[in-house]
Formats: sequence, C-alpha cells, structure tokens
Amino acid sequence: MAKEAGANNVSVKPPPEPSPLRKAKFFKLLLDFHGCLLLWNLGRLKIALYFLMRLIHSSTSVLPIAFARFLDVQDMHTNYMLMTGKDENLVTGGAGFIGSHLVDKLMENDENEVIVVDNYFTGSKDNLKQWIGHPRFELMRRDVTQPLLVEVDQIYHLACPASPIFYKYNPVKTLKTNVIGTLNMLGLAKRVGARILLTSTSEVYGDPLVHPQEESYWGNVNPIGVRSCYDEGKRVAETLMFDYHRQHGVEIRIARIFNTYGPRMNIDDGRVVSNFIAQAIRDEPLTVQLPGTQTRSFCYVSDMVDGLIRLMEGDDTGPINIGNPVENTPDDPRQRKPVITKAEESLGWEPKVKLREGIPLMEADFRQRLGIPGKN
Ligand SMILES: NC(=O)c1ccc[n+]([C@@H]2O[C@H](COP(=O)([O-])OP(=O)(O)OC[C@H]3O[C@@H](n4cnc5c(N)ncnc54)[C@H](O)[C@@H]3O)[C@@H](O)[C@H]2O)c1
Repeated sequence: MAKEAGANNVSVKPPPEPSPLRKAKFFKLLLDFHGCLLLWNLGRLKIALYFLMRLIHSSTSVLPIAFARFLDVQDMHTNYMLMTGKDENLVTGGAGFIGSHLVDKLMENDENEVIVVDNYFTGSKDNLKQWIGHPRFELMRRDVTQPLLVEVDQIYHLACPASPIFYKYNPVKTLKTNVIGTLNMLGLAKRVGARILLTSTSEVYGDPLVHPQEESYWGNVNPIGVRSCYDEGKRVAETLMFDYHRQHGVEIRIARIFNTYGPRMNIDDGRVVSNFIAQAIRDEPLTVQLPGTQTRSFCYVSDMVDGLIRLMEGDDTGPINIGNPVENTPDDPRQRKPVITKAEESLGWEPKVKLREGIPLMEADFRQRLGIPGKN
C-alpha cells in the first residue's frame, strides 16, 4: 500500500527532471517571440521606409505606389488614400479619344485621383501629356487582357478600339479586349468593391429593325460578320456586367455610346467627321459614301464625358443611351439614332454643344496636329 509523505517520511527518490519536451517548448516559445519581434521590427522598418518615400514623393506619384507594392504594404497605401478622402478612379483606355477627355474632367476635381491603364493601340501618351507628373495622376502601360491589381473606388472601363479600321485590324484581339478585358475589370471591381462603368455602344443594336432605338430594344446583330468582334464583343461585355451584378453584387453602370466627335480623334480613323475635316484641311476632295443622302448625328465629346460621369455617380445601372438624337434621317431604318429619354430623366442629361460649335474646335486640333495653319 502506498504511504503518504509525512514529516518523518523523507522521500528517497529525487524529483523527476523536467521533460526535455518542456524545454523544447520553452525554446520554441522563445524563438517564436524572437521571430515575432523580428517580423514586427521588419514591419516597422517597411512602414518607416514607406513613409520616408512618401515624404520625398507625393503619395500618388509612381514611386510610393511602386514602393508600397515592393514592400508589400499596399493595404497601408490604400488606407492612407482613403484617409485623405480622395476618390481613386481607374480609367482603362484613358489615353484614347473619349478616355483622355474623361481624365481631363476627372482631374478638374481636386478630390479625384486618376490611374490610367492603356496599351496605346489606338491611344497616345500625347493625349495625357498635361497630366504626366501630376501628383494625383498615374499612367500605366498595361493591356486589360492581363489581370490587374490596383485599389480603386471607381472603374471607367473604356479600353477597346472604337473605329472599324482598328477593331477589324485584329478581330481576335478586339474580342479578347471586350471579353477577357471586361472579365478582368469585373474581377478587380469585385475584389476591391469598386463601381464599374462600361462604355458599350449603339452597335449592340446592330442593323436595327426598330427606329429610333430605346434601351429595351434587343438588337439585330449578325454574329459572324466582320464587325461582330466589336458588336458581339460589346454584347458579351454587357452580359458579363449584369451577371457579375446579379451573382456577386458588383455595382455596375452601362453606357451605350452613339457617334461622338471632338479634338484628339484619330486623324485617319476612317469615320466621317474625321475624314471630312482631315480632307478639307489637306485640300483633298471629300469622300462621300453612297447613296450620299444619309445623315448622321454626333455628340460632342464634352457632352459625352458629362453623361458618363453623371451615369457613374447616379443610381441607374443602365444600359442608358448617350448620344445626340438630332439631325438623323428618320426614314432610314439602317440608321442608328438614340432615344435619350432615359438619360434625360435618370441623369438629367442632354447634349448641349451644337455641331457648328464643335467642328471648329476639332478643326483647330487637327490643324495643330497636322501642322497646317488655318487660312485667313
Ligand atoms: N468614339 C465613339 O464614337 C464611340 C462610340 C461608341 C462606343 N465607344 C466606346 O467608347 C470607348 C472609347 O472609345 P474612343 O472613341 O475613345 O476610342 P479610342 O480608340 O480613341 O480609345 C480606346 C483606348 O483603348 C486603348 N486600348 C485598346 N485596347 C486595349 C487593351 N487591350 N488594353 C488596354 N488599352 C486598350 C487604346 O489604346 C485607346 O487608348 C470604347 O470602349 C468604344 O467602344 C466610342
């Protein structure tokens, strides 16, 4: 029977050695503690380096952003931007015609930061030269068919060639830009909780059987024609937008843009306004497509940009037609002409600049780019 240890009962057995496992646990704890300390100090070092870089350069210049990425402290950079209360805007295709005017407008507001992503297929750095180096502006040469990681609040997704000459040049790439590019931008919007606006087109109505076109019209589109890469590409892009909205709750906006004109259009993009102006300036005969009786209506680019910003900031997902309904031939069923009641009612938007006011501005821009002074 086991005896209890009493005053006269001295145990002969020495106390057991602490288990080597306990020692190991102790050393592991010590190591963990040192590890944490090391990581903590490294973290502090990273933060210190990041803040140092920001002191030297403005927070939106490329260096702190690249540095934040290098140090893996992007979250901190984003939080800083959020704390400073700026709205981060991503404009894909921002070096293009409409995109660069949109950037100009966004940059007018001191509360906006603007990041442009463009592969310069039809756009040019020249369109943005006034902003390069500005503390609230960043330009990235990137293709939207590749995934992109940036922290933004709003995405204006414009990247896509708009002129038939360019979109037919590489139809497979045009489709990839519309489908994979839009998927990538929607993935980004979902990840960072951004609102995304797609610039779709009146071409989704195809060869319309209804005239003029309301947003509720589903269109009459040839799926296998040479323009299909653009028309059908934009239709899929719209589908993706709504599926991300319904399935993942992404905040979307869709603008269906009709013919737009203004400075910075590609001089030789083959569309009627740029053709006429370039030919007139070069003293060349004007090319008129048969039958020659057709009329078109065009929306000046500042009106277009105003409509896009209103759409982004409003509550309507769209799709909403944005274009000028004036000056079309009503009896030409092949003509696309927008019904803009929805834009008027939902966005309080209507085009303001008349063709006779807009054309001289475009002419001045073309003359300057072609180096042909005006005649007095
Ligand atoms: N201009 C119009 O009349 C009109 C009409 C309907 C719809 N839209 C739409 O508006 C948007 C802008 O049109 P725009 O007239 O300014 O055209 P644009 O060709 O001048 O601009 C498009 C921009 O997107 C860039 N881009 C093209 N593919 C890209 C890619 N894969 N990755 C990154 N950048 C890419 C180009 O380099 C260019 O800067 C387009 O989505 C177009 O479909 C325009």
